[in-house]
Amino acid sequence: MNESRRRLPLLGGDGHSGGSRSSMTCLYRCANACDHPAPNTSSNEYFGDQIEAEVTRRGVLKAGSAGAIALGFAGATAGAVAGAAPAFAGPGESGAAEGFSTAALETSGGPAALTFSPIPPNTLDNLVVPNGYDHNVIIRWGDEVVPGAPDFDPAAQTGASQSTQFGYNNDFVAVLPLGRGHDRALLVCNHEYTNENLMFPGFTTLDALSDEQVKAAIAAHGMSVVELERVGRTGQWQVVDRGRRPYNRRITALSTVFAMTGPAAGSALLKTAADPTGRKVVGTLNNCAGGVTPWGTVLSGEENWNQYFVGGDGVPEEAKAALNRYGVSTTARYPADSRKWDRVDARFDLTANPNEVNRFGWIVEIDPFDPDSAPRKHTALGRFKHEGANVIVADNGHVVAYMGDDERFDYMYKFVSSKKITRGDSYWARKQNLTLLESGDLYVAKLDFTSAAEIDGTGKLPTDGAFNGTGTWLPLVKDGRSMVTGWTVEQILVFTRQAADAVGATKMDRPEDVEPNPVNRKIYAALTNNTARGTTTGRGALADEANPRNANKHGHIFELTEDGGDHTGATFTWAIPIVCGDPADPSTFFMGYDKTKVSPISCPDNVAFDSKGNLWISTDGNALLSNDGLFATALSGPEAGHLKQFLTVPRGAETCGPFIATDNKTVFAAVQHPGELTGASFDKPASTWPDGDYSKPGIVGVWRLDGKPVGS
Ligand code: FEO
Ligand code: CA
Ligand code: CA
Ligand code: CA
Repeated sequence: MNESRRRLPLLGGDGHSGGSRSSMTCLYRCANACDHPAPNTSSNEYFGDQIEAEVTRRGVLKAGSAGAIALGFAGATAGAVAGAAPAFAGPGESGAAEGFSTAALETSGGPAALTFSPIPPNTLDNLVVPNGYDHNVIIRWGDEVVPGAPDFDPAAQTGASQSTQFGYNNDFVAVLPLGRGHDRALLVCNHEYTNENLMFPGFTTLDALSDEQVKAAIAAHGMSVVELERVGRTGQWQVVDRGRRPYNRRITALSTVFAMTGPAAGSALLKTAADPTGRKVVGTLNNCAGGVTPWGTVLSGEENWNQYFVGGDGVPEEAKAALNRYGVSTTARYPADSRKWDRVDARFDLTANPNEVNRFGWIVEIDPFDPDSAPRKHTALGRFKHEGANVIVADNGHVVAYMGDDERFDYMYKFVSSKKITRGDSYWARKQNLTLLESGDLYVAKLDFTSAAEIDGTGKLPTDGAFNGTGTWLPLVKDGRSMVTGWTVEQILVFTRQAADAVGATKMDRPEDVEPNPVNRKIYAALTNNTARGTTTGRGALADEANPRNANKHGHIFELTEDGGDHTGATFTWAIPIVCGDPADPSTFFMGYDKTKVSPISCPDNVAFDSKGNLWISTDGNALLSNDGLFATALSGPEAGHLKQFLTVPRGAETCGPFIATDNKTVFAAVQHPGELTGASFDKPASTWPDGDYSKPGIVGVWRLDGKPVGS
């Protein structure tokens, strides 16, 4: 084993997923989800209450082609859209110099070698990139977003000040070209959650925060839009000068009003005292991954929203099963470690406002090119712990969104629009396309296996040499009608997890980012880990061919190929190209590539593609006890499976984003929760990234010093 592959005695994880994730991450990000029984108690697939018998029986339980690049960037998720018409008008303008052009999302395809030298695993409190590369911090928590924002003062933060400054814990990153040149862009990113202990000087307990600090924390959730400019002709980008930021915008959980769309908008299930229409919701919560649409908007998933609600003990008995299925506590007014936001806003109290919780858990769509537009929550895409959504245009013109529900033993979904995309860049075309996600069919994935009898839970490959099989998209809603006996369409869309239970969907190992590769048009999902699989603690199913390891600490990558290349179809094949971990671990697999040359990887979370179709993977909670990082591999040709580590993030941080420019000159990544280690605080930071004082989440850009494309 060479130096880069040695397992390092590094920062110890004391969290619950068996990795390096700290207990602080578990508390603040997902309210200790792994401490609770997996909320999927359905009996589809294998039977949770038969696990012990099954484990005994098996005796295997282990612990353990499109057009040329037109502009500088790819919406890696978007797929190619024909036509390179004039760009859309920006705010207050009718000319073509501003706005979004579909040409910007075209991909070039073809093999491109990833020639960078991999960096070794490490625990440095730094952002580490390969030799010959450099990086900059483009924006960090507290920086001005809305012109006129007050200077950042962590000791005096208010809801109002934070509503104009860059939010906390940046996750998804999109960078959309602005105008016709190659030198301006809009950065759009999510702010998933807050670490109050790392944000406020003198922090002692959540209870001791002032009301204004609570409002600042609420406002630090949401999204940001920030205009960028290229530095010279390099791969470096920076925030534009103050006073020249017409697109800049903060979307917050505190005050931004969202419009509900789709079949469940206006339903009784979404009505509250404050909003008797059931169509207007204040805020978005726990926005995790996302995607760029071919019409130049950004999708974002509301993920662990359950943790923000209190008073679940006081809801009517008949409402409790649905709350439990989503991990909302129904046994205590204040679940352990509750943020208790109800003290500044009663809508977070379910006893008083039982329907407010139904207004979160959606895919939201924002139009960064129209800063005055109301962001929307699309009910047609279902309600769960949405990791994100990524869209591809099917050959027949319908748009298809692929989505994961990030919970142990939860499901993968797809949405197929009822309308077809309107080609071109006219104002009219874009107006049409902005409605594509408001109506369509919703499906959940059911898998079948080629080698089921040979799966022993160790990760040992079956004799046919592949974890693979076939699958069916089970319809939940089709042609506007319910496909679940006894359920209305509104019920299916609001209580999607239970509807999917009813049809027998396949339980997966925490489906995170699910994204179409714009070059080979297959779908890739990060299944991050599931230490409860095959154990008695989590009511979980046993290993199966698609989730081939019990006590899955390191996760794997899932590849889905729609039959006949038809993304709107009902059947598919699938395979597991990468089983993560230390390559010296016999349970790992890297497309058959020589494992002595592969970088160790653990807990894949986000996936992205460069314009050549190479797969980029970022990690969260590295169970090999190195810092988290970003990796890349080719998916075809002789280098397929040669996974190499491209960067690591500072101590305690997770790597999010990522987003690769189509010209391959810049890799953008989000550094989330630096210094999020047990015992750390604002005053005693475990990381001083990026400025040498206290830890701040931020967005970085990485480029090659010689100006050539990254990776090739
Ligand atoms: Fe926010 Fe599923 O990661
Ligand atoms: Ca097989
Ligand atoms: Ca994630
Ligand atoms: Ca992604």
